[in-house]
Amino acid sequence: MKAKSVGIGIVGLGRLGRRHAENLARYTPGAHLAAACSPLEAERQWARDHLPVQAIYADYAAVLADPAVEAVWLVTPTSLHPAQIIAALEAGKHVFCEKPLSLDLDECRQVTEVAARYPHLKVMIGFVRRFDASYRAAQARIEAGEIGRPFMVRSQTCDKNDPDGFFVQFAPTSGGIFLDCSVHDIDLARWMLGSPRAKRVYASGTIALHPGLAACQDVDNGVAICEFEGGQLAMFYASRTMAHGHDTQTEVIGTAGSVAVGRHARADRVEIADASGIRNTCTPSFYERFEDAFLREAQAFVAAVASAGPLPLSLDDALEATRIGIALRTSLQSGQPVVLG
Ligand code: NAI
Repeated sequence: MKAKSVGIGIVGLGRLGRRHAENLARYTPGAHLAAACSPLEAERQWARDHLPVQAIYADYAAVLADPAVEAVWLVTPTSLHPAQIIAALEAGKHVFCEKPLSLDLDECRQVTEVAARYPHLKVMIGFVRRFDASYRAAQARIEAGEIGRPFMVRSQTCDKNDPDGFFVQFAPTSGGIFLDCSVHDIDLARWMLGSPRAKRVYASGTIALHPGLAACQDVDNGVAICEFEGGQLAMFYASRTMAHGHDTQTEVIGTAGSVAVGRHARADRVEIADASGIRNTCTPSFYERFEDAFLREAQAFVAAVASAGPLPLSLDDALEATRIGIALRTSLQSGQPVVLG
């Protein structure tokens, strides 16, 4: 007997939402697009032109009222995530939501409280790196004890410089460089180290190229140290100004070895040798680097909904990543270490 297909309502058809929509419509077995939603007519027109979707709405409430939608897929501005997740749960829908869960800790707690009232509904925040083949292999090797006891993570998320500084206009609502970018490294570090809680953080940063960030106390290059309760350490570096491309890499150091992912941010396996030396093209953006992982993420969520099985990460993980990200921003802005309770 053919398994029932899960009806998805994609909400937000911006830079990333369109990618998710295409993945869900075409490459996610067991799912179909029941609805697409954007407040912008141009984005709804894009959906009409490009997506095999049953209904297109301007209003999120209409998605929640649609019985064909079993799960909502939120790719909306981060400041909207908590209220939209809660509304979806109260309407009886499963929820996938892009990272981070929220920019505010009380809102994160409200989401976890409401989600606990609906244990039959799945809620997953999109920490996409947990679905990347290389990060999964690294984590499995660590869990198998291959590097002994892991005690240190060094991880960076560095974007290619956008000379137009497009991202500067999103800075007031992005939560700052640590919540927007390092939140991935924070989640990775916890995953690799056995999910510890943070006890103290310190962050610093500088503006290398985009002075417009100063108005919202943000930086375009930030570094951070995070101490965990079990004594493990993590160091994070985030940048918006790389000259060569998107360069995400992570190293986990243990008592009997280390494991590294993505040390050379190569777009492909082509190497060019000429009079100026030997070189590779670099991954242009996060999407080319994590394209497969976005697809696996969608497939994993749909499979968990369809089978009523467990999700690979919890809302508590998403809450802890936000707690650490907020503490890093506080430290950056105050110049002081932050002790977490
Ligand atoms: P965007 O600004 O390009 O798109 C936002 C979308 O939300 C637009 O389609 C907009 O029309 C829609 N929207 C705004 N208000 C709405 C409302 N009230 N109801 C329904 N839709 C509404 O933003 P982008 O870059 O696509 O980011 C969206 C989310 O994805 C953010 O939370 C961001 O942190 C996350 N993200 C995650 C990445 C990852 O690596 N996992 C990478 C990039 C973004």
